[in-house]
Amino acid sequence: MKAAFIQKFGEPEVLTYGELPDPVAGPGQVVVDVVAASINGADPKVAAGEYKQVTFPVILGRDFSGRVGAVGAGVSDLAVGDEVFGVLETGRDGTYCEKLAVGAAVVAKKPAGLSHVDAAALALTGLTAICAVEESLKLQAGETILIQGGAGGVASFAIQLAKHIGARVISTTSTANLDFVRSLGADQVIDYKTTDFARVVKGCDAVFETVGGEVATRSFDVLKPGGRAAFIASGAQAPKPARSDVTALRPAVPRTRKYMERIAALVQSGAVRRPHVTTYSLADARKALQVSADRHFRGKLVLNVR
Ligand SMILES: NC(=O)c1ccc[n+]([C@@H]2O[C@H](COP(=O)([O-])OP(=O)(O)OC[C@H]3O[C@@H](n4cnc5c(N)ncnc54)[C@H](OP(=O)(O)O)[C@@H]3O)[C@@H](O)[C@H]2O)c1
Repeated sequence: MKAAFIQKFGEPEVLTYGELPDPVAGPGQVVVDVVAASINGADPKVAAGEYKQVTFPVILGRDFSGRVGAVGAGVSDLAVGDEVFGVLETGRDGTYCEKLAVGAAVVAKKPAGLSHVDAAALALTGLTAICAVEESLKLQAGETILIQGGAGGVASFAIQLAKHIGARVISTTSTANLDFVRSLGADQVIDYKTTDFARVVKGCDAVFETVGGEVATRSFDVLKPGGRAAFIASGAQAPKPARSDVTALRPAVPRTRKYMERIAALVQSGAVRRPHVTTYSLADARKALQVSADRHFRGKLVLNVR
């Protein structure tokens, strides 16, 4: 099969397009003929060696949409030909390719109204946003949340989810993406190129932080006493707050079918709209990875695999 993979750690240019052996469905697994796979903020970090995979080649990518091409022993709830989408099991990479083997338990049927490109785009970002906003922060109607990095994949889903819950949403983005982030439903959008968010935002109930670095550590400043902040771009642990009256959370992001079904329901009900997507061919995965690594774009980057 064709795949985009690395044989050493480094910048996006280490990503190679070529042939690798087809996978086989083990017990409890299905083989998916991938139609689309998305680029996530984690992928350039995997290429750079931040997650310490040691067995090369490593096919990059965590989410996918496609058709079941083979079914392993013990799988009774999926069949050859089913249109499915999902996120690989925790710790696994390998969706920038034509075929992948994955546990049936993490795969969901793709709604007919959602294209493969959109389903791949929403899988890991939607999963992460749901786990952070609903499960970890337990955001409530009437609360105010600051969502950092509003134009990114996870944050653009999270803004819509927070509005659906009934919260007031403040978000940050660069000048070029202000209108895009407003269009997602944010009530107040701060241009981080011209305005220091920590000077203009105060008294938030919650923060969802997707940018990392100093943006993460300074996010505690906007919380009211008793506020909570969830971090997904600061490594495996949440940063430690310098104040004792707030809570720092590092959301768990478990891979299970129920979250894929929740994404599908949110899109089908209109609570979350189709993502803003830029597509690339699988052969051009390196270009897409470079755009992701540069970290200034809009919405989602998706590989059209077939
Ligand atoms: N399981 C997990 O824990 C998990 C899952 C998914 C993602 N993540 C992590 O979460 C982070 C976000 O992932 P993602 O895929 O959503 O990222 P992404 O789509 O690659 O994020 C890119 C976005 O970040 C925005 N941005 C960059 N610098 C910013 C700043 N200083 N202030 C505000 N916005 C800024 C950019 O907007 P502008 O162009 O407007 O600057 C761009 O739209 C990554 O670090 C990723 O590794 C973790």
